[in-house]
Amino acid sequence: MNGSSFARLAVVISGRGRNLQALHAAIADGRIAARIVGVISNRADAEGLAFAGAAGLPCFVLPHVEYRDRASFDAALAAQLRELRADIVVLAGFMRILTADFVRSFEGRLLNIHPSLLPRHKGLDTHASALRDGDAEHGATVHFVTPELDGGPRVIQGKFTIGAHDDAARLAERVMMDVEQRIYPQAVAWMARRELRFEQGSVVFRGRPLLEPLSLHDLEPGF
Ligand code: GAR
Repeated sequence: MNGSSFARLAVVISGRGRNLQALHAAIADGRIAARIVGVISNRADAEGLAFAGAAGLPCFVLPHVEYRDRASFDAALAAQLRELRADIVVLAGFMRILTADFVRSFEGRLLNIHPSLLPRHKGLDTHASALRDGDAEHGATVHFVTPELDGGPRVIQGKFTIGAHDDAARLAERVMMDVEQRIYPQAVAWMARRELRFEQGSVVFRGRPLLEPLSLHDLEPGF
């Protein structure tokens, strides 16, 4: 982390950017001691870019279709993040698989949010998958990113009971509004305060190894 008390945050998106908006709101009202130094999208048409532009956040588009392979896209992304001197890289609805080389070079600074109770339902279509499996509960997980897809150590999970009237669209909405918008700003706030760290492959929270992910009960007032 840099010497100042504000962490330099880069937010990487592909889509609507509702997590980006929640992070921005939490910075604006002082819950996260950070500054968004850049919003990077792999799609020029990502809705989140319109929000970021209107909010005056520096935006960068790296269209993945213009790179010859995954490694060259990741190299460009890494170069952009280095230029921004990002302390924390927040994947917020970024829908690309990252190479192991990229992940290793940002190890410990790279957070992701995934719309399921990991390790259940890795990958895509998590809401339909939870319904198909007859799960009683669903939710979202913030985790450190490691080369294993959606497999890095978990920081915090928020969950709720699936209702009889929940279809995949309704589950997506509940996950976003009731869980993601709360747990991601909280996790980033802890990172920015250095209360949350990644050490030798494990999560350390307030100086102790975190054996189980934190939950909605652990949120601080305001989150
Ligand atoms: C979120 O639900 C996030 O968990 C999911 O995409 C959505 C993005 O919404 N991410 C993934 O599936 C990553 N594999 P947003 O763009 O409005 O923040």
